This record gives sequence, C-alpha cells and structure tokens, in this order.
Amino acid sequence: MVHSKNIPWHMDAVFYELNVRAFYDSNDDGIGDLHGIAEKLDHIQQLGIDCIWLLPINPSPLEDDGYDVADYIAIHPDYGSLEDFDYLIQEAHARGLHVIVDLVINHTSDQHPWFVESRASRDNPKRDWYVWSDTDQRYGDTRIIFVDTQTSNWTYDEQTEQYYWHRFYPCQPDLNFDNPEVHQAMFDIMRFWLDRGIDGFRVDAIPYLYEREGTSCENLPETHEFVRQMRRIMDEEYPEAIMLCEANQPPQDVLEYFGDGDECHMAFHFPLMPRIFMALRSGDSTKIRTIMSETPHIPDNCQWCIFLRNHDELTLEMVTEEERQWMWEQYAPLDEMRLNLGIRRRLAPLLDNNIEKILLANRLLFSLPGAPIIYYGDEIGMGDNIDLPDRNGVRTPMQWNDGPNAGFSNAALEDLYAPPIDDPVYGYQQVNVVNQQDDSGSLLNQMHSLIALRKEHPVLALGTLAFIETGSPSVLGFVREYGDQTVLVFHNLARRLQRVEAYLDEYAGQQPQNLLNDAQTFHPIGAAPYRLSMAPYQSLWLLLNGERN
Ligand code: GLC
Ligand code: CA
Repeated sequence: MVHSKNIPWHMDAVFYELNVRAFYDSNDDGIGDLHGIAEKLDHIQQLGIDCIWLLPINPSPLEDDGYDVADYIAIHPDYGSLEDFDYLIQEAHARGLHVIVDLVINHTSDQHPWFVESRASRDNPKRDWYVWSDTDQRYGDTRIIFVDTQTSNWTYDEQTEQYYWHRFYPCQPDLNFDNPEVHQAMFDIMRFWLDRGIDGFRVDAIPYLYEREGTSCENLPETHEFVRQMRRIMDEEYPEAIMLCEANQPPQDVLEYFGDGDECHMAFHFPLMPRIFMALRSGDSTKIRTIMSETPHIPDNCQWCIFLRNHDELTLEMVTEEERQWMWEQYAPLDEMRLNLGIRRRLAPLLDNNIEKILLANRLLFSLPGAPIIYYGDEIGMGDNIDLPDRNGVRTPMQWNDGPNAGFSNAALEDLYAPPIDDPVYGYQQVNVVNQQDDSGSLLNQMHSLIALRKEHPVLALGTLAFIETGSPSVLGFVREYGDQTVLVFHNLARRLQRVEAYLDEYAGQQPQNLLNDAQTFHPIGAAPYRLSMAPYQSLWLLLNGERN
C-alpha cells in the first residue's frame, strides 16, 4: 500500500467483515472456525483487503450470535482454541493483514459468571456489576432498540425481586459502568487480546454504557470519559491498535466519539448508508450530498468507516419516518424482509442482482472519504435467505464453489449451522468464488480492481471532498484532493443516459484520465463548461494530470 508520510494504517485501509461461523469449516463439524479462516486467507489477501474484522468469537449461548458473551477471555469451542486464534493472527500478519475483533462492552450474556453471581442475591459482591432497580419505571426516556420483540428495557428477576436493565435482549444484561470494578475488568480484557497481537477492536454498542434519569441514556458525558480512558491505555501500551466505534447515531453525535482525537480512531458512518440506497433507487443524488455536507470535519488521524451492508438489518434508524416507509416499500416489499427498524437483506438482492448497480454502489463507496468495509460474501453478490429467523438470513455459509455445501464444509448438509443459499438465482451452483475467479468481468474481479485502484491513488482514501454542480440531479459530482493529486468523480445514479455540464475552469488546461476505464478518452478541460455524457449507472473517476492553475 502507498503510505504517504506517516499515515496510520487505518486511515486508508479496506476492511472485510467476517462471521467466523460462516466462512470456512476446517474440521467438518458444520461450523466455520478460526482455522478455517486461516486456510482461506488467500481469498481475502487477493481481494486487496487490509484489515479483517471478526464478529464475536467468545464462548456464548449464541442467543444473539455471540453478542451475548459468557467468557471474554476464551474462544467459543465451535470456533477453536486460543492456539487457533494465535495461529490465525500470525498467518494474517504474515500476509500484511490486520485483524480487529468485536469488543462487546455494554452487556454480557445472562450466562456470564458475573451475572450468574449478580443475580444470586442482593448482597452478592457482583450485585453492583449490573444495573438493578426496584421499579421498571426508571430511565423512562430511553428508546427500545429491538422494537419487534421487546417492550421494555427492564426484566424482572424472580429470585431477587428486582428488575435488571438491558438495551438489547433480556439475555443481555447491561453492565454497570458506575462501578469502577467493571472498568478494571474491561481494561484487563482489552489487554488480554491486545497482548495476543490483535490490531484493535470494533467497540460494540458504545453509546449505551451509562444511564442517567431524564436523559435518553445515550452518548452521556460519562460514556465519553470512559472511552477516553480506554484510549489512554491503547495510546500508552498499544499505540498501533485502533478502536472502531459502533454508534448508530447522527453525525454530530458520532463526532463526539472521536473526541479531540483522544477517543475512537474510527467510527461507522451510519447515516450515509441508507442514503446511498435512497439515491440508487430514486436516481437522485441530493440526499448523499446533504448528509455528506452535514458530516462534520473529524480530527486528524481519525477516519470514518463506510459500508453498504453488514451482519445486521440494513438499519433505518437514521432516517425520517417518511423515508423509512419509502425504503421499506422500495426494498422490503414482503413483511418477512423487515426487521425492527430495518431490512434484513443482502446487497445483491437489494440491488436486483444487477451487477451494474452493485458496482455503482461500490464505486460510490470507494470514492467517498472514509475506509470502506465489505461484508463477507458481498464481493461475489451472495443472496439471502429470509426463511431464517432474525438476522440469520444474511449470515449463511460463504459460497466457495459449486460442490457440496458450497465448498464451505464437508459435514452432512443437515449438520451445517445453516443451509447454504440454494435457489436458482443466488444458489452456490451459480454464485461462488471459483466461478468468479475465472471470469474477468465478474463482480469479484471488478471488486478486486476497485480496491487496487484505491490503493494506487491515495487521494481516493485521504483526499478532501467538495461537491460539484453537474446540471443533473441524477449525477453526483465531487472533487477529491490530496497533495498534488486531484480526482473529479461523477456517478450517474439513473437508469438513463445523463448529460453533465460542469464548471471546471479552475482546472482549465488539465487532461482527465478515467481511472475506471483507460480506453475512454476525454477532452482537456477548458474555460467553457465541461460536457460529458454518462451511460446508465456509469461512474467516472477522472484523475487530472498536473498542477492546478
Ligand atoms: C450491535 C451488533 C448487533 C448486536 C447488538 C447487541 O448492534 O451489531 O448484531 O445484536 O450490538 O450487542
Ligand atoms: Ca468447524
């Protein structure tokens, strides 16, 4: 990777989000495992990925796919052992791949020994590690997140006749961050994994650490103070490691998780994601422009993580009620496709399995500021299975080839943790890695090229962003600048040809070269308005050839 000056690794990295259970089964028990990932690192490396994010790997009753941790300092037996983990880290590092893991700090499983003790009696020494109350009326201004299944953030515990607090499922009691012992426990857990060589954490559900009456119990000052303490440890003891913040909040609130460069290194850009889908469906670029214009400047050495899809539902929390209804109508026509405030579908089915649209979505993502994340399987256009409950439909086995079980496992089909996608359109017989490797026009190969281009041109990762008037609401135009590199970017979001007329006199005398297609030639920029015709769903990444006038 071209590392300009002393840019920390996360600034221009491309991430790959990986569900251990779903990737590759190395011991034929039907469940993906750590050793399996180590065997499949070629795929990730060849794609051009810089950092793997592993979904939760700890022992867990798996009521929420591992986001219900029963032991923070061990590996779920389905996934292997600590030795397997060390081996994976070693193999990944040997290939120049970073690895970050999920750190589920807000809550544990109700099976965690801390909670088992805490609920044993009111005077148990661990009682105060969780949030207990005589009434379920406290913190009444707090929203419910899993609206489809939960009616309260409190659950009554028969044995000790008090309620405990949980922002997610009742099997996920929230830890009490007012207790300094909980802080210490979390610091120990961080050190345990960082000492094993990981490159950082994706910090789960970070806004919800503290509760205060009369507030939304989200993004409280106390929470930020705790994040700063975590960061101090990282800076002093593990200066190369990062924290990636999961805060599904408006840009202004997420901004605070960067602090003055003394909280998280990275944060997901949740509000951008649904607006990309709105723009693609409506053929109108306005919402992307608006959200990016509302996105505040972030401290140096901090970076956004931008994404199209992940392991959860496509969340519509960061849009208006009207927009949400529209998104549901457009993208989730069947009730089963909806979950909580979102849509439980994968990228390819959302975009009608239209490779031009899927590529446009990715070209858009890879041309905006921030570090892109690819959700496993989306690089080959995997489908989903809405017959599986909750979010499991987007967590099916990786499709490696057209052999039995999609090449994911040698176990019997009925022993797999979930069936591979097996329908006429998205089934592994058609959609798989091997097929696409051999086909130069495949999504996989085109994703590879996109990533490679971004690596060759640091301006795409690190450049500034300024929007350009294009004369067509369907064409999103912007300029990225970094040092002496300039790229003019245009995306035609419409399914029709568009004519662009842009005032580029600032760049007069320069010769654009389309990074996405060498064969296409362009007129030099002059004083007159610059005119372009853009094919449906076409993108142009026009690199300018020299110094600005
Ligand atoms: C995050 C995870 C989600 C999980 C929740 C509770 O939002 O992405 O999968 O259910 O946290 O831990
Ligand atoms: Ca296995």
